[in-house]
Amino acid sequence: MSHILAIDQGTTSSRAILFDARLRPVALAQEEFPQIFPAPGQVEHDPTSLWSTVAATARAAIEKAGASAAGIAAIGITNQRETTLLWDRRTGQPLHNAIVWQDRRTAPLCTELREAGHEPMITARTGLLCDPYFSGTKLKWLLDHIPGARARAAKGELAFGTVDSWLIWNLTGGRTHATDATNAARTLLYNIAENRWDEEICALLDIPLPLLPEVRDCAGDFGMTRPDLFGREIPILGVAGDQQAATIGQACFAPGMMKSTYGTGCFALLNTGTDLVPSKNRLLSTIAYRLKGETTYALEGSIFIAGAVVQWLRDGLKIIREARETQPLAEAADEAQGVVLVPAFTGLGAPYWQPESRGAVFGLTRNSGPAELARAALESVGYQTRDLLEAMRADWGAAAEGVLRVDGGMSASDWSMQFLADIIGQPVDRPVVTETTALGAAFLAGMEAGVSGGPGEFAAAWALDRRFAPAMAEPAREAKYARWRRAVAACMDFR
Ligand code: G3P
Repeated sequence: MSHILAIDQGTTSSRAILFDARLRPVALAQEEFPQIFPAPGQVEHDPTSLWSTVAATARAAIEKAGASAAGIAAIGITNQRETTLLWDRRTGQPLHNAIVWQDRRTAPLCTELREAGHEPMITARTGLLCDPYFSGTKLKWLLDHIPGARARAAKGELAFGTVDSWLIWNLTGGRTHATDATNAARTLLYNIAENRWDEEICALLDIPLPLLPEVRDCAGDFGMTRPDLFGREIPILGVAGDQQAATIGQACFAPGMMKSTYGTGCFALLNTGTDLVPSKNRLLSTIAYRLKGETTYALEGSIFIAGAVVQWLRDGLKIIREARETQPLAEAADEAQGVVLVPAFTGLGAPYWQPESRGAVFGLTRNSGPAELARAALESVGYQTRDLLEAMRADWGAAAEGVLRVDGGMSASDWSMQFLADIIGQPVDRPVVTETTALGAAFLAGMEAGVSGGPGEFAAAWALDRRFAPAMAEPAREAKYARWRRAVAACMDFR
């Protein structure tokens, strides 16, 4: 038994990757599923399609590799975080669609919590802010809106979970209701300093404790799969939220190491070691991973629109047919026009946290066209990353001035990565394996199964594809960044 199956359940698709014992990808299967937009600002997923695409891609990856379940030592799970599900423990049926992390329906509730003065207490315990992004207010919304749900929850009839818990429940045929510390850390209900559900916050949000899953280490026993799923029982031995799994997959095991993943959004995590560093600059403090009961913390900056700005060029403006057309367009753009695009399509995330802001383009002239817009779109990703790194430096000092490891779809664009290095003034390293999220989950499961090595061995195997060194002169860099800051300030002013 020498293979590890990594399940990566993301915001737009489910993926399964089979890794060999040396954690090299052998086969991949991927399936998209429908996005449900019931009203402006609301995003839902059908829980059944999350599960069915996971089951189908897992089987497909095994089949593609010509492997069999008998050869799989363990399963690792990584997932879109914060997305909130509620189901019946007896039937396993969901009571509602999953409310996705991007969903803003609980913005008024978050404002109420802030205005009532609860945010400092919530931040001190959870490391998070009162923003609709996190699960706690979404779960409250479900309990408030589904008739009888709160009373049934109090009687222990219902289960809450983030996507990992929902998948574990289905994989084990309802035998395990558990989550890992990184996913628990995104719920707004988990005390990350004391590693336990916070009863006071649960009481404040009127969330009955019997709903909550058991919280386990990232590498550990999450139960056996139902025998009928793959023809034999396979142990689930690793679980981490996708951004934490990417941090692990990038081997950011030492304090001061950081990574940035460019998917739909962009999430930068800085390992702060065993110190829980409270942010004074509106970043999040979170759990990077918990292994053998020891918690490693991170500072996180979350940007909601990164790769999605390229999708907007393609599907909204229709000025490109494929994402890779952006790079030649950006190269052909007239830089002197200095067009700036602030992609605040769903509000602004860290460090601004302005759910009501909307996007804008500045500096248009009669000569501005698709090339200038494409360049401004790619540049916006670099500027937003610099916003996060500025906050990290302010919170953590010079230790945050090292190399930034990058992954995710957009990291394939040399132009974007060079601009990123130029605008942050720090080297940017792109690894050979950019499937870091699935790799992180495979590492956790493989280590627990005793198939692959521990963190030291894994870090030594991390291989560099290309380093992008900053090449822009400092005055130009600072002038460009100052224009970006003015553009963001104007967006925040405009309502
Ligand atoms: O916090 C949200 C994040 O986990 C979503 O990641 O890659 O599914 O867009 P992704």
